[in-house]
Amino acid sequence: MKILFYMPDAEAAAWLHDFARALPHAGLREWQPGDTAPADFAVVWRPPREMLAGRADLRAIFNLGAGVDAILSLEREQPGSLPRNAQLIRLEDTGMAPQMAEYVTHAVLRYLRRFDEYATLQRERRWHVLDPHPREAFTVGVLGLGVLGTHVARTLAAFGLPVRGYSRGAKEVEGIAAFAGEAQFDAFLDGAKVLVNLLPHTPDTANVLNARTFSKLARGAYLINVARGAHLVEADLLDALASGQLAAATLDVFRQEPLPPDHPFWQEPRITITPHMSALTLREESVAQIAGKMLALERGEAVSGVVNIERGY
Ligand code: NAP
Ligand code: GLV
Repeated sequence: MKILFYMPDAEAAAWLHDFARALPHAGLREWQPGDTAPADFAVVWRPPREMLAGRADLRAIFNLGAGVDAILSLEREQPGSLPRNAQLIRLEDTGMAPQMAEYVTHAVLRYLRRFDEYATLQRERRWHVLDPHPREAFTVGVLGLGVLGTHVARTLAAFGLPVRGYSRGAKEVEGIAAFAGEAQFDAFLDGAKVLVNLLPHTPDTANVLNARTFSKLARGAYLINVARGAHLVEADLLDALASGQLAAATLDVFRQEPLPPDHPFWQEPRITITPHMSALTLREESVAQIAGKMLALERGEAVSGVVNIERGY
């Protein structure tokens, strides 16, 4: 088994070391420009076009993340950039689901229990109890009921909050009010107090966090975007904060990353910013999952996590 590896930062050596331990009989190499020697599998994060274009040898490309929007954009911008016969396989959970649940729960509870307002009172040395948000009216809507969204929705429901989930196809998740497809989008949003985005970025979901979407939520709602920056119409968020339709937002992902120093979001105290860290790719879990799938493919078995290129996720 021959494996090509590419990651655009300095961690490649550690990944190659762990893959060599998991697959001692594999021939592993870090891809370098000009390397067209045969390989069975590629393991990549944000690969350059020239690494994959025109290759007929690869059986599968493993994406070192849950989202495949970056790699699919190569093909969208220039058809033929991805090998036709290779399956594209994404990470499924690999420790991201608990991280995402921690991150989103932290943001939701901060808003529910009014911790940001208590921090302001503390700075002013004021001892004052604020009215609690009524729990039964504190509906949380989770956009995307996939691997991560379902885990997040279940975790929030365990706090006794009313939780809704939205997916493309109909779903049943115990304890969650499930909505599916465009026809049920407005009913999913209707009066929600918190909106969490865990959709993949596809042509269908780009810009979904916009003024119309915000207008359907409860007044003073809270936005949590942990999926992709391209989901959010940035000007609409600033307008919704200015009008009071949204009370605040927690954003982990941005159209341009790193977020430029002169971006208006840095100046807005109601926006909490983190540097795309809500669910990091964990090496040990990811190597174990990918190595297991490579061995399964070698045995001629089908594996899960295969991306539907047409659908975009
Ligand atoms: P997933 O398992 O593929 O789930 C995607 C969900 O979105 C599914 O429920 C799917 O519906 C739904 N969906 C897709 N297109 C839709 C549409 N047009 N209308 C309605 N629902 C739609 O993905 P995942 O593993 O949960 O990951 C979700 C995303 O999180 C990734 O794509 C990535 O962008 C982001 N992410 C961010 C970080 C971070 O650190 N910030 C880390 C990991 C992942 P069906 O169930 O009906 O197919
Ligand atoms: C990270 O953003 C991922 O898609 O895994």
